[in-house]
Amino acid sequence: MALLRAWTRLSAPIHVSRTFSTTGSTSSWWSGVPLGPPDPILGITEAFKRDENPNKVDLGAGTYRDDQGKPYVLPVIRKAEQRILDRKMNKEYAGIPGVEDFRKGAAKLAFADCHNESLSSTVQTLSGTGALRIGGVFLQRFFPHNKVIYLPTPSWGNHTPIFKDSGLEVKAYRYYNKATCGFDSNGALEDLKSIPEQSIVLLHACAHNPTGVDPKPEHWQEMSHIIKSRNLFPFFDMAYQGFASGDLNRDAYAVRLFLRDGHQILLAQSFAKNMGLYGERAGHLTVVSGSPDEAKAVESQLKIIIRPMYSNPPINGARLAAEVLNTPELYDQWLVELKGMADRIISMRTKLKGHLEALGSTKDWSHITDQIGMFCFTGLDPDQVARIMNEFSVYLTKDGRISMAGVSSKNVEYVANAIHNVTK
Ligand code: LMR
Repeated sequence: MALLRAWTRLSAPIHVSRTFSTTGSTSSWWSGVPLGPPDPILGITEAFKRDENPNKVDLGAGTYRDDQGKPYVLPVIRKAEQRILDRKMNKEYAGIPGVEDFRKGAAKLAFADCHNESLSSTVQTLSGTGALRIGGVFLQRFFPHNKVIYLPTPSWGNHTPIFKDSGLEVKAYRYYNKATCGFDSNGALEDLKSIPEQSIVLLHACAHNPTGVDPKPEHWQEMSHIIKSRNLFPFFDMAYQGFASGDLNRDAYAVRLFLRDGHQILLAQSFAKNMGLYGERAGHLTVVSGSPDEAKAVESQLKIIIRPMYSNPPINGARLAAEVLNTPELYDQWLVELKGMADRIISMRTKLKGHLEALGSTKDWSHITDQIGMFCFTGLDPDQVARIMNEFSVYLTKDGRISMAGVSSKNVEYVANAIHNVTK
């Protein structure tokens, strides 16, 4: 019955008109399939690729570029690749929950010494998106109370479809203050206090996507307290550990605080950004349980969810990440390269703001340097976004988000000039 309800909610009415020939065969089974809109984020990359302007700049999807504007494979990943190649490993199935060394390394990276292995069920997933989806389906099947998840406003564009397709109801809590371009602490705390008890709350662990605005430690402490006292369930999305500040521990502050405060959490991790493993789809889901027996039962159910979906995950990205996480020499090298990426983004923030001011913009652009992580929420409205794309071939999402990782020494002045022109 519940499944039927979820299905009815998810499926939009589709009117199928099929024409039959005299022999009874159909002209096409798919004539009733409506054309879907392009993806709000990945569709921007497609539009960018079609543009022939030699000055075009892609600030749409959050993928790191070096200062030449080129995709970047971390040297430490090249090293890990070579080591794995030299070992001539086999290509057997990893098993439903994935590569074990990867799972151990990923959980340790997130939790450090807050990690109680016997209480954690972990599975390798198809990057962060896969972790959110498996987590979403798990909650839909087993969360014992309101199957409603509250997302911050705004949130990553894919969160809503992921959780709706998981069969959860999606609602919102306030997060971003347009007037200050900062965290709406009053709004968020007020909303968390009034969300019905025993609901699920999605939290961006660090480098909030799309706003680049994170709660301060004191806000996290208050949120943890409210979430505990209101009996809400926290689901953390941590897609940017190390990418926000350049420091893995600092970026894991909220997750570890919640564990120390005694919350059971769900945690989705991605290694797309911090190891540059985008297309390798290396992700991880942890469910924290109340007892070792519970953890075993939870893990068995995660496996039951995964098996009919994709059977078991791909091994290559997980092996690469595990090699880096579990080899001290590679791990140390990774820390340096990770900091290098974070620092380059931070320096581009300063340059972009500087150029806007030098061009004579009278607007306050301090949010460009105040915000953190891969994205800057510029404050451009949809008309300005349309203009900057049409007139300057600078591509960004409709909500005014730019990927700072796509800004380089080469294009920063051009981007500043384009922003200034559409905002003056
Ligand atoms: C983004 O937000 O741009 C990235 O997380 C890429 C994606 O899949 O949307």
